[in-house]
Amino acid sequence: MVAVAILAAGKGTRMKSNLPKVLHPLGGRSLLARVLESLTSIQPERCLAIVGYGAEYVRAAMTDYPNLEFVEQIQQLGTGHAVQQLLPYLQGYEGDVLILNGDVPLLRPETLQLLLDTHQKQGNAATILTAQLPNPKGYGRVFCDGNNIVTQIVEDRDCNTAQKQNRRINAGVYCFRWPDLSKVLPTLQSNNDQQEYYLTDAVNFLQPVMAVDVEDYQEISGINDRLQLADAYGVLQQRIKERWMRAGVTLIDPDTITVDDQVVIEPDAIIEPQTHLRGATRIGTGCRIGPGTMIENSVIGPNVTVLYSVISDSVVQAETRVGPYAHLRGHVEVGERCRIGNFVELKNTTLGDRTKVAHLTYLGDATLGTQVNVGAGTITANYDGYQKHRTVIGDRTKTGSNSVLVAPITIGANVTIAAGSVLTQDVGDDSLAIARAPQSVKPGWRPKHLRETT
Ligand code: UD1
Ligand code: CA
Repeated sequence: MVAVAILAAGKGTRMKSNLPKVLHPLGGRSLLARVLESLTSIQPERCLAIVGYGAEYVRAAMTDYPNLEFVEQIQQLGTGHAVQQLLPYLQGYEGDVLILNGDVPLLRPETLQLLLDTHQKQGNAATILTAQLPNPKGYGRVFCDGNNIVTQIVEDRDCNTAQKQNRRINAGVYCFRWPDLSKVLPTLQSNNDQQEYYLTDAVNFLQPVMAVDVEDYQEISGINDRLQLADAYGVLQQRIKERWMRAGVTLIDPDTITVDDQVVIEPDAIIEPQTHLRGATRIGTGCRIGPGTMIENSVIGPNVTVLYSVISDSVVQAETRVGPYAHLRGHVEVGERCRIGNFVELKNTTLGDRTKVAHLTYLGDATLGTQVNVGAGTITANYDGYQKHRTVIGDRTKTGSNSVLVAPITIGANVTIAAGSVLTQDVGDDSLAIARAPQSVKPGWRPKHLRETT
């Protein structure tokens, strides 16, 4: 039996932010969401978040976790005081409680499982996660006897010079036998440098308390300021990119590439430098993405190339070529073997297979059939100042260079639109549409001042 409690009430003063610390995003998800996700293999009976500073924002941000219970800590008087708030909620509970700091977002589920298993097998009163850090500054130091039995935890600011030499630190992740901890909590004192009630002092009154070292110390990095947030992002990126490279994806100059953790990349895709893949994005096998590309919440089919372009909330199907310098946004669907070229913007637009939009074009709120050829400089005038209107273009139609299609408008299949046309009316299938002033030529004409007098 295990319940989980996450300490998330602190303001995070060192972040210098109005946003509660646990809501700061790390690679697209909040610190608190990441802590919750590290619990996947544990399946706790109950999961409680102790909230305080900005509690209403924290609650509102966590609607994806309907089983999360919130416990309010009105004044933040320390981590021990935070856990005291659980007493009425866990009255009579006989199991173990896994307590995590809400600002430790890189924990692996396996690590938490190991902590819990050790705790339960050894029958400890408490088991705490520790790490040997090259630079332990800022962390509580954990003192153990030769058998990993904890004797004391001393906060960095309360350490004397000798104690500061200890590089074994408290990760802020603990497993407690709740009946034992609940007896100790009311006796905690605040006689320390911060005048706070420290959860770490509870170990002085429990027996036995065991420390378990984490193998990869980067997992337990706590986020207290923006520098640590940036470092954690680096660790996260390294993990994600390593995973994809091991799965058969080529990353060229990986340090310049960022990949969010929900992104899926199929084997034999090549990701070029300065490329950023974000949100729920999927990249198909054989794709070549980048250099200089950002793709967000989009699905890219197999063998697509995307060069120096931005794609968001869109779908691009197999073998299509995008870019350089194209922008697809707001629900674009591009079929197979299409060509989207330089300086083309597509918004809320569907293109059938083998349609080409090669240069200098804006298509908004449009539906194009297959094998359409959109001439350079074609514009859908989709906005009348009040509303957006649709443009429909049938299969195999060709729009001439610099055509303006004033929506709402439907152009049939196999239509040719003359260059420079401004079309305001529908055009039926199999026709030529010209909507421009006819050219007139006056042979022998010269400007007045150049005319001869003879
Ligand atoms: C804490 C530990 C320290 C450990 C470090 C690991 C204590 C006393 N110290 O220090 O030994 O090395 O974490 O990262 O526990 N919080 C509340 N209510 C409060 C105070 C804090 O909910 O009244 C929450 C914070 O929101 C945060 C977590 O507890 O998520 C830790 O608090 P923080 O102030 O960051 O503790 P550290 O000084 O980092
Ligand atoms: Ca901290």
